[in-house]
Amino acid sequence: MKYLLAFLFILSTVPTFSKADFKQPTILISILARNKAHTLPYFLSNLERQNYPKDRISLWIRSDHNSDNTIDILKVWISSVKHKYHSVNTEFIDDEKSYPDEMGPGHWTPQRFKQIIYLREAALEHGRKIWADYLLAIDCDVFLTNPDTLPYLVSRNYTVVAPMLKSEALYSNFWYGMTEDYYYQRTDEYKLVLHRETVGCYSVPMIHSCVLIDLRKEESDFLTYDPNNIKNFEGPTDDIISFAVSANRSGFELKLCNEEEFGYIMIPLDEDNSIELDYERLVNTKMAVLHEYEPLFVNSILKPYVRPLPKKDTLVFDKIYMINLKRRHERRKRMLTCFDELGLEVDLVDAVDGQALNESFLGKILFLPGFEDPYHKRPMKLGEIGCFLSHYNIWRDVVHNKYSSVLILEDDIRFEPFFRTRVKALMNEVNKMPSWDLVYYGRKILQDDEKWVDGTNYLVEAGYSYWTLGYVLNYNGANKLLDADPLSRLVPVDEYLPILFDKHPQEDWKKHYPKRNLVALSAAPLLLYPTHYTGEKGYISDTEDSVVIEEVLHTPKEDL
Ligand SMILES: *[C@@H]1O[C@H](CO)[C@@H](O)[C@H](O)[C@H]1NC(C)=O
Ligand SMILES: *[C@@H]1O[C@H](CO)[C@@H](O)[C@H](O)[C@H]1NC(C)=O
Ligand SMILES: *[C@@H]1O[C@H](CO)[C@@H](O)[C@H](O)[C@H]1NC(C)=O
Repeated sequence: MKYLLAFLFILSTVPTFSKADFKQPTILISILARNKAHTLPYFLSNLERQNYPKDRISLWIRSDHNSDNTIDILKVWISSVKHKYHSVNTEFIDDEKSYPDEMGPGHWTPQRFKQIIYLREAALEHGRKIWADYLLAIDCDVFLTNPDTLPYLVSRNYTVVAPMLKSEALYSNFWYGMTEDYYYQRTDEYKLVLHRETVGCYSVPMIHSCVLIDLRKEESDFLTYDPNNIKNFEGPTDDIISFAVSANRSGFELKLCNEEEFGYIMIPLDEDNSIELDYERLVNTKMAVLHEYEPLFVNSILKPYVRPLPKKDTLVFDKIYMINLKRRHERRKRMLTCFDELGLEVDLVDAVDGQALNESFLGKILFLPGFEDPYHKRPMKLGEIGCFLSHYNIWRDVVHNKYSSVLILEDDIRFEPFFRTRVKALMNEVNKMPSWDLVYYGRKILQDDEKWVDGTNYLVEAGYSYWTLGYVLNYNGANKLLDADPLSRLVPVDEYLPILFDKHPQEDWKKHYPKRNLVALSAAPLLLYPTHYTGEKGYISDTEDSVVIEEVLHTPKEDL
């Protein structure tokens, strides 16, 4: 018995190997960090979360010409993780804060281009020299929210492959077309791939910012970031263009995969942008992540280096309300994180829970005679009644407190990038209007012949619309909405508003509300979208008018 136990004990402690098991291929990860103190906590934390054995990874990290504490953060991080990795090779130079003639952090002077080409090439050569199986060349404004990105890329067996990365707008880490003189070319396919309307791995003329190279493949020896290494090449002096051309000239394809969601990339700065814009872009990117997943992850060791949240205010309004059902705590939590990021001071209003309305109360409400939902042909649901009452209670609060204007938000919304700045620009125009009562920030547009408001850049006269995701209301507007006495002939709130501003197509409903003089405008482009639309069919077309100027976002950096 004793022997048997001892034997069993041995069996259970000896790991079992199968002859076919190989260790994972080795990867050199190259990181070039410059003026990235604000993104590094997120970049490094998400990189570290990759499901790949760290003892099979070597790090090669370079940093120079910083005007922030990039190097300090790198050092703190490295000292906390270096024992896990196979090796860490660093070179930090902190004698120069910038390049001569450099206008700002988005300005690529010839000397800066020369340096990045030199560093990228050095990483590639280092990988070859140490016989790394792979090189992952990744930039510090890439956040790999999917921890299986690295194993996925390795499993594809391509010579050069990139995971498709999303951004706050239409920017990504690939091009679908390239002109003969090596510039970005617009294609119809680009958006289909970006929005994952088609999924797979595509041969594309350009990938950058997060690229895995299989150094064991013979053909990878032809890759270079240095235009001087390419025979008869007369294109621009640019690291990523040289890289793409060297692959093409050697006859192999660059692959971009969008089979999974992998992560996010920040839009690069233009040459005349300040670092402040990069901070805002980081907020935009964090918001984009938050709209679809958990907040962007940060390691506890890097938390002290995260920029503090902004001070909160109510923008240009007397009050900002958010309507939230008590039992929807997930939504509430997500929205509160959004408000923290955006610096919005918001009053939470408990939504009227339609399910909890009692018979005696419901018995007192009168519905609009003959009311049917025009699409579903059904009477109002309890949820719709609750929703109406939630908005109604806020209108009463506005009148009661004589607020001059308020912003009313629902709890399943997505904020457009630069929300604060755009609200201010918009309200600047609104406040110059001779009269207005309500301004939609988010809605479903149901009418395509809306009129632009003369002399404004961001305002249209609202036509028939659905949804009440977010709107601004002033004192007069709240009074008009209450004075029409909607509880005596109830319709859903998003039918009620268009009736009162007299753009409702249903004539026999309108006649029950003789006074229809609400002046309703809408932000154009809209500032809010529903979150639950994301990824669903129709998502692109519904956000089409929110598109940020594509030209600018896609232009390669040497063109800016
Ligand atoms: C990659 O190569 C491995 C080993 O040759 C093979 O088992 C695997 O199926 C390949 N994967 C793909 C996606 O082709
Ligand atoms: C190289 O570029 C040309 C022109 O864009 C393209 O037609 C060709 O397919 C590319 N070759 C490879 C191997 O990707
Ligand atoms: C029914 O609901 C109304 C409004 O929420 C409330 O004021 C009233 O007390 C309720 N009545 C009963 C019998 O629960």
